[in-house]
Amino acid sequence: MQTLKAIIFDLDGVLTDTSEYHYQGWKRLAEDEGIPFTREENDAYLRGVGRRESLAYLIRDRQYSEEQIQEMMARKNRYYSELIKAMSPKDVVAGGFELLEEIRHAGIKTGIASASKNCRIVLDLLEITQYFDGIADGNSVVNSKPAADIFVFAAGLVNVPTIACLGVEDADAGVEAIKTAGMTALGIGPQDRFHRADRVLPSMENKRLKDLLGA
Ligand code: G6P
Ligand code: MG
Repeated sequence: MQTLKAIIFDLDGVLTDTSEYHYQGWKRLAEDEGIPFTREENDAYLRGVGRRESLAYLIRDRQYSEEQIQEMMARKNRYYSELIKAMSPKDVVAGGFELLEEIRHAGIKTGIASASKNCRIVLDLLEITQYFDGIADGNSVVNSKPAADIFVFAAGLVNVPTIACLGVEDADAGVEAIKTAGMTALGIGPQDRFHRADRVLPSMENKRLKDLLGA
């Protein structure tokens, strides 16, 4: 990596545990529809994956009309919205405020690259929107992770070349996107989840800038 000039964070499962709420939303939808769905499948196939692609995994070769697909995506989003509405700053990962302060004090830009259309709602509930120089969300690009687009877009928003960015992700598809974008990739979670991460940390809790950099 060139001198680090920006850190681009995924949101769900990195800065807060909304990945659990996404799982619960899909689980409830799967139960409505009588589709078997486990936490293990969620971890292996849905983590960090977009809304439509997630539904496609759930329904597999079951036949649904486009109208039914739209209704199911809207229903899952209602379930998810109910789950997040009580979120507050206490749901930011432990040490998250201090970490974001430290990064900004160090003169490093901060960005978000989240596939979620709920990204700004969650950032506002957590009261961390103001910590970011650029926010790329589920409305920003056409090609979803593992395509590099959202990380490239976020790097542009903070005005830093991708080679000088560190990307932080809890999903393997996200790490793939970071690497394809030309950034250094930090994976958050079990080592065996990631194929191309430059470094892996088991959790984001109570991390300082030096932990993210591996210095
Ligand atoms: C993120 C989450 C996924 C979610 C996707 C779309 O990538 O990690 O679990 O499916 O965003 O989120 P949305 O809020 O737009 O349905
Ligand atoms: Mg994530």
